[in-house]
Amino acid sequence: MKFWKQTLFAGAALLVALGSASAADVKIGFVVKQPEEPWFQDEWRFAQQAAKEKGFTLVEIGAEDGEKVQAAIDNLGAQGAQGFIICTPDVKLGPGIVAKAAANDLKVMTVDDRLVDNSGQPLEDVPHMGISATKIGETVGQAIADEAKARGWDMAKVGAIKVSYDQLPTAVDRVAGATSVLEKNGLPAGNIFNAPQAKTDTEAALNAATTVVNAHPEIQHWVAVGLNDEAVLGAVRATESVGIPAANVIGVGIGGADSAINEFKKPSETGFFGTVIISPKRHGYETASNMYEWIADGKEPEKLILTSGQLAKRGDYQAVRKELGIE
Ligand code: GLA
Repeated sequence: MKFWKQTLFAGAALLVALGSASAADVKIGFVVKQPEEPWFQDEWRFAQQAAKEKGFTLVEIGAEDGEKVQAAIDNLGAQGAQGFIICTPDVKLGPGIVAKAAANDLKVMTVDDRLVDNSGQPLEDVPHMGISATKIGETVGQAIADEAKARGWDMAKVGAIKVSYDQLPTAVDRVAGATSVLEKNGLPAGNIFNAPQAKTDTEAALNAATTVVNAHPEIQHWVAVGLNDEAVLGAVRATESVGIPAANVIGVGIGGADSAINEFKKPSETGFFGTVIISPKRHGYETASNMYEWIADGKEPEKLILTSGQLAKRGDYQAVRKELGIE
């Protein structure tokens, strides 16, 4: 009896030891398309928080193009990682990313931008966390319409700068959500001017929006929508560069990271009126935790999680951030 008891205890102790050793052995990659963008830095920060709490290693990798993505996955495989989370620079890399992950025996999940197949359909087997793009876009449109009314603008004469990036489905859904609400509020479809950006950063948005603003000197009141805060900031900068006063511009972005906050901290209000704050904590901490549980416990993540957003302005962004737990 005594012998069996001892053996049982020894076995249990060994299992506990194995369990704790396995957390330290887990290595997870977090690959992002634009490492310089504050949103992605916040995602990394929250993913590292999960790594610290659970005891695994998180490897941050920036991959701005397809070649870098391939190299990143091979590199993670060579390092002995078991899985990675990725926001890809191009959603059409989908099948290639899945194949590379399988070749390296790595589990894969996506964040922000959902992979598509060769015909543009989402890869539904790959677990994904993204934002509720249409709904958040609608929140942007409503915030703009409300403010335009508060300023007493005649919606029939307002011009909208639509900073677009059509190769990314979430970008299409976000701006379509915003413009649909603007139209419902009386903005004529013919007053929505497309400003296609070559890249998803402020500079590319500024270039695209400058063309639109220069082409329409007849417009007195401008509104601006886009994929993220950077896109809308580019449009706002374009209006400033031709001398349109802030009082005649209403831009509402999506994100709520430093790009937006730095704007709110400026001494006087700019045309960047607000942002729909989304949660880098959910996108970073939760995806990393889900991947960890998948590797360590075999618990597969949900296939699709869509997160929400909350409107914030210059006067209340700190309170909204606190409420969302992203201080
Ligand atoms: C896309 C955008 C980012 C950010 C995320 C949020 O990846 O490029 O700026 O808005 O979506 O999911």
